[in-house]
Amino acid sequence: MNFFNLEGKVALITGGNGGIGLAYAKGLVKAGAKVALWGRSTEKNKAAKEVIQSLGGEAESFECDVTDRAQVDTAFEETIKHFGAVDICFANAGVAGPSGMLHKLDMAAWNKMIDLNLNSVVYTYQKVIAQLLERGAPGKLIVTSSIAGLVGTGHAAGYGTTKAAVLGLTRALAIELGRNNIQVNAVLPGYVGTDMTANAPKAFIEGVKRRSCSGQLGSLDQMEGVAVFLASAASDYITGQNIVMDGGHTVFPY
Ligand SMILES: NC(=O)c1ccc[n+]([C@@H]2O[C@H](COP(=O)([O-])OP(=O)(O)OC[C@H]3O[C@@H](n4cnc5c(N)ncnc54)[C@H](OP(=O)(O)O)[C@@H]3O)[C@@H](O)[C@H]2O)c1
Repeated sequence: MNFFNLEGKVALITGGNGGIGLAYAKGLVKAGAKVALWGRSTEKNKAAKEVIQSLGGEAESFECDVTDRAQVDTAFEETIKHFGAVDICFANAGVAGPSGMLHKLDMAAWNKMIDLNLNSVVYTYQKVIAQLLERGAPGKLIVTSSIAGLVGTGHAAGYGTTKAAVLGLTRALAIELGRNNIQVNAVLPGYVGTDMTANAPKAFIEGVKRRSCSGQLGSLDQMEGVAVFLASAASDYITGQNIVMDGGHTVFPY
C-alpha cells in the first residue's frame, strides 16, 4: 500500500491561492489529489490554478471571502458541483491581525481577525463535516494554526488567541468525528516567508533564525510534505494533534 497516495481524493484549501495554502495544494496534487482553491482575489485565484495545472494537477478556484457565511455556503455548493465531493479540507486562510498593547486594540480590528482566524474555520468545517457524514465517507480536516498558539505573542494577543482557539476546536472535533473515521489535526508552522510575513522587521527575522535549531526559516516546499502526510492514510491513527513544524524554534532554550 502506498500510504501517501491521494488519487481519487478532493481537497479544499481556504487561502489556497498563495503562500502556505498554495504550497499545501502543490504537495496534494503531486500525491494525486484534485484541489479546490478558495480565496478572495480573482487574479490570485487564476494564477494559482495555473500553477497547479502546470504541475499536471487538476484544480479549480472559487472566489470566496470565508468570513462571510453566505459566501462559504455558495463556494461549497460550487465546489461540490464541480468535483462531486470534498474528502480533505485545509482551513488555512488567516491574517496576522492588529498589533499593539491589548488595552489599546481597536475592537473592530480584533473582531475582523476573529472572523477570519476562527469563525471562518467553523463555517468551512461545518459544510465539509455535514457532507462527509451524509456520504458516510472518511475525511481529513486540517487547520493552519501557528506556534503563536503555543507560545506568548506579546503585542499580538489576538493572533495568539485565535491560533490557540483552533487547537481547542481541533481536539473537540477529533472526539466528535473519530468514530466516523474523520481525523482532525492542526499544523503549527514557525516562521515561513510569505506575503503575511514579508514586512517583518529584519531584526525580528534574525531573532527567529537564531532561535531555530536549524538556523533557518521554514520554506514553502517544506509545507508540501506535511499536507500530504495529514491528508493521507499515513496519518490515519493521528487525530486531535498539534503538528509543530518550526525547525525546533519552540524547543530552543534561549
Ligand atoms: N507565514 C508564516 O510564517 C505563518 C506561520 C504560522 C502560521 N501561518 C498561518 O498560515 C496561514 C496562511 O498564511 P500565509 O503566510 O500563507 O499568508 P498569505 O501568504 O498572506 O496567504 C493568506 C491566504 O489567505 C487568503 N485569505 C485572506 N483573507 C481571506 C478571506 N477573508 N477569505 C478567503 N481567503 C482569504 C489569501 O487570499 P486572498 O487575499 O485572495 O483572499 C491568501 O491565499 C494563516 O492562517 C497564517 O496565520 C503562517
